[in-house]
Amino acid sequence: MATSAKTLEVGAIPYDEIDTIIGNYKGDSSAIIPILQDIQEIIGYVPKDGIAYMAEKLEVSAAKIYGIATFYAQFRLQPVGKHIIMLCEGTACHVNGAKLIAGAITDELAIRGGETTPDGLFTFEKVACIGCCSLSPVMVISGETYAKLTPDATRKIIKEYQEKEAAAQN
Ligand code: FES
Repeated sequence: MATSAKTLEVGAIPYDEIDTIIGNYKGDSSAIIPILQDIQEIIGYVPKDGIAYMAEKLEVSAAKIYGIATFYAQFRLQPVGKHIIMLCEGTACHVNGAKLIAGAITDELAIRGGETTPDGLFTFEKVACIGCCSLSPVMVISGETYAKLTPDATRKIIKEYQEKEAAAQN
């Protein structure tokens, strides 16, 4: 069973770990969903090359695995950034300016919903109500909730993450 996500070079596929995961399920071709879940837990998404490799090992068609991976919303087929920005687009957040917050995020990072910055640091996702409507508009970054946002506050928060990342690299 996979235990923790790790940072990999962009595009790097840990084939040995995929082997281990498949081995954990004894190469059982009926375990496609849990195998995909474990791969995503380790890599952060399900890469196309990983699907092809899985297909070869499980002796099933890549199309079948791809079909499953695209059917279930839980699977990501694109790499995600280190920090996932989840902006709520539920009714309360919408009414209280989520669109302006989305604009501020796009201005700062040059990405739209569903995209990841080229440096792999941020993924921007728009999500349904996250359950704290009285604090709207709300976004969550890497598990931290930011409430009653304004565009300026949003820009400041993102800049703080960027500064922390820049400092960590020096
Ligand atoms: S609508 Fe955004 S938290 Fe509920």
